[in-house]
Amino acid sequence: MTDMRELWNSLNKESEFNFISHLQNGQEWDKAEFHLTGIRFVDRMADRIVEYGTLEPSRASVLEIGCGVGRFLKPLACRFRLACGVDISEEMLKSAATQCSCLPNIVLQLTDGRTLNNLIDNSFDYCVSAGVFQHITDFEAIASYMREALRVLKPDGLFLLQFEGNRKEEQGQGQTGAKITAAKLDAALAGAEFQILEVSADPTDAVRNIVLVLRKTPGQAPVDTFKTYPMTKRRWMEGVYDDIKTKTQMHERQAAPPLTMTFYDA
Ligand SMILES: C[S@@+](CC[C@H](N)C(=O)[O-])C[C@H]1O[C@@H](n2cnc3c(N)ncnc32)[C@H](O)[C@@H]1O
Repeated sequence: MTDMRELWNSLNKESEFNFISHLQNGQEWDKAEFHLTGIRFVDRMADRIVEYGTLEPSRASVLEIGCGVGRFLKPLACRFRLACGVDISEEMLKSAATQCSCLPNIVLQLTDGRTLNNLIDNSFDYCVSAGVFQHITDFEAIASYMREALRVLKPDGLFLLQFEGNRKEEQGQGQTGAKITAAKLDAALAGAEFQILEVSADPTDAVRNIVLVLRKTPGQAPVDTFKTYPMTKRRWMEGVYDDIKTKTQMHERQAAPPLTMTFYDA
């Protein structure tokens, strides 16, 4: 895992935002636009939380695995009582601390790359991870995080996970992770007590965005397996990729801002 830590530390030093989300045509992120994508991702997460969750976010705690520079953690902290982010890279966490410095309810922690050893059992209402597992090269580390997420969740807590199923080296940057299959997940989570609430794939996206939503159900083994669970087609990143595609146009539009700003156009 030291290699992985070094890789993400060096990517962060090379560019704070571009390895979190890769822009087309080698463009550099505008900071406000970068954070807007985080707000919209978290809107998508919130859709699932409203759909499946039982506890209102403002009274709940959330853990993010692989929080990077805090793109999601910041908007999560605006919705949740407490937001904790863990990451393998100290440099990413330093950036996250700066990006999120205005929020008092954020906790950041360094992980060993496969466990949540510093976090106690049954302590979080929600756990999320997006854009991370597709970079982890060792499937055992992915499996371990899934078991760990279920361990640190409270009973009935939700785990919402997104990863790119079809990720290839040439799509985006960073590492291409181990292949995650339904059969491997069934084997990795044998004996764990949870229910599958959603397995969905984004039909419009070549990288095959997969979303899993699991509920921790102590004393109850899953009634379904990942292999047999009916996969639904559902767009995960609507309005997020669209922003990236229109980045150049947005810059053009913002090139000459109006001299006076108003709350509405007269
Ligand atoms: C592409 S970035 C995504 C960050 C954040 N989820 C987002 O989308 O804004 C991937 C992040 O996962 C972290 N990461 C990679 N491998 C990890 C591991 N084994 N454990 C924890 N974090 C990891 C990296 O340091 C990096 O911050």
